Amino acid sequence: MQIIKYISDLDTVLAEFRKQGKPIGFVPTMGALHDGHLSLINQSVSDNPVTVASIYVNPTQFNDQTDLKNYPRNPGTDRKLLESVKCNILFVPDDKEMYPEKDNRVFDFGFLDEIMEGEKRPGHFNGVAQIVTKLFDAVKPDRAYFGKKDFQQIAIIKKIVGDLNYDIEIIACPIVREKDGLAMSSRNTLLKEQERKEAVKIYETLQQIQKRIKYTDIDELKKYALKAINHTKHLKLDYLQIVNTKTLIPVNKITKKEPVTACIAVYAGNIRLIDNLDLFT
Ligand code: PAF
Repeated sequence: MQIIKYISDLDTVLAEFRKQGKPIGFVPTMGALHDGHLSLINQSVSDNPVTVASIYVNPTQFNDQTDLKNYPRNPGTDRKLLESVKCNILFVPDDKEMYPEKDNRVFDFGFLDEIMEGEKRPGHFNGVAQIVTKLFDAVKPDRAYFGKKDFQQIAIIKKIVGDLNYDIEIIACPIVREKDGLAMSSRNTLLKEQERKEAVKIYETLQQIQKRIKYTDIDELKKYALKAINHTKHLKLDYLQIVNTKTLIPVNKITKKEPVTACIAVYAGNIRLIDNLDLFT
């Protein structure tokens, strides 16, 4: 695996692959890799002759500076993991490389960032759009891979790709879960022992909502989630939303006519975790 720090070097290496007609798969990450990330790399490796992963903890997408400071970083382990899944190139830029100047771009996501993560984390998706466009411009991939745990992020990225005419196929990959059901996340390593145990309640709540869908309305489902989560000692519900899977518009009534996804954000102690479940699977 080649490790590259500068966009100009990445350009030179990737131009050669492009000349040979080799499609490039790209997996952008913020490091602290887990099996969820590795499943994205595996998918890219099986779809493309060349896979590039990036590791960059992007400051502009953190609306909370403590969260940025505490974000887990494991560069040595990450490199070994990427080698073990046959990633070809690891791009590890620093802040100067990605933001030589302040990025003042403001993106318009329409309704997509007015709810859930967009509402709760002001500026977050604008920061995601800033870095993802910079990374897309640097890598110029044919395909880019994102995990469905970040359900709203995928919708935002598809919108950017459409609006800015990027010729990149966005591939959404299934959520990878721990044995007890907790969605894998780099932030899970920050949980204290008891918080980690209780965090299983997040997926359990989504599963219960899926079970109850036939005989209850949305407000009852929200009340159910609030009670289930907030009655667990170290958990606190930030939101539960049930939205149309494609438009992200909250639904008033669940019918089998439209695909719906339940999205949840929960604080386990100080650590904020998100998860989601398609309700008709
Ligand atoms: O999903 C993430 O890890 C980040 O939001 C991303 C896409 C790598 C941009 O920093």
